[in-house]
Amino acid sequence: MKKVYVSRAISDKGIELLRRQCDVRVQAADRPATREELLEGADWADGLLSMLCDKIDEEVLSAGGGLKAVANYAVGYDNIDLAAAGRLGVGVSNTPDVLTHATAEMAWALLFAVARQVVPSDRLMRSGRWQGWAPMEFVGCDVTGKTLGIIGAGRIGTAMGLMSSGFGMKVIYWNRSASPRLEEGVGAQRVELDQLIEESDFISLHLPLNDTSRHLIGKPQFEAMKPTSCLINTGRGALIDEAALVDALRKGKIAGAGLDVYEFEPAMSKGLADLDNVVITTHTGSATSGSRGDMAVMAAENLIAMLDGRAGAQCLNAKVFRHG
Ligand code: GLV
Ligand code: GLV
Repeated sequence: MKKVYVSRAISDKGIELLRRQCDVRVQAADRPATREELLEGADWADGLLSMLCDKIDEEVLSAGGGLKAVANYAVGYDNIDLAAAGRLGVGVSNTPDVLTHATAEMAWALLFAVARQVVPSDRLMRSGRWQGWAPMEFVGCDVTGKTLGIIGAGRIGTAMGLMSSGFGMKVIYWNRSASPRLEEGVGAQRVELDQLIEESDFISLHLPLNDTSRHLIGKPQFEAMKPTSCLINTGRGALIDEAALVDALRKGKIAGAGLDVYEFEPAMSKGLADLDNVVITTHTGSATSGSRGDMAVMAAENLIAMLDGRAGAQCLNAKVFRHG
């Protein structure tokens, strides 16, 4: 029987699938696996079902010499050294599609929360100090008719853009290739990054994190953004130079930010939590019962396929499974 280590408890739907054909060990405590637990699990197992906060580097991948597959419970896989996995013949998979709408919806939740000052208003209401309706209180910005700039028009960026159709927004996007769905769906226009930065009222980030996208948004971009603009990030924290963001928000270079991800997760940059014009959530983009259940099943199915010597649909390095 193949041995599988799951680095944190996920939906039973996924665990049960695995248990039908594998010897399954699930990390017992409800917290991220420690480095030692991860190494021990990888040493023991044939397959690893990993979380996005597990650093799957060469040491983990080669821990016991027997690891065959890693199924990441996330669409992003910047936590995994894919080159090392290829060298070591370890298959790697992710969970695309099943979290697309959930993450796009989270970007909208943040966008509206920032635009309409939902969090400070909630805080005042809870405090019991609200004096009643006021003409000048929590006056936010309009969303309808504004320009939405989407950076990264993959599955999630495209879904986020398409969801704008009810708000009559002008949608512009920056992506390596054209997105016909976005262009046909909401008349989106593909532009250069500089133009997007300068013209957008709302900018939403949907890129994978890698060496070219790290700190894509930093001081020069904040200088170029409209002082009335808001930045939304449901991708990866390090797409933004977070210290520069805190500085830009403090100085009013931009109006606000909605963040679900952080450069040094789970920590955040000094000063961020003191700002009233940010909404900060706890990396919950895919956290709907539907998406998390589907992710568990998909990751389990991916792992079973790879342990069976098949790449499966979401394998990121299928060549590992091509023999002869
Ligand atoms: C979440 O951040 C994911 O990559 O699935
Ligand atoms: C990938 O990150 C996506 O957009 O689904």
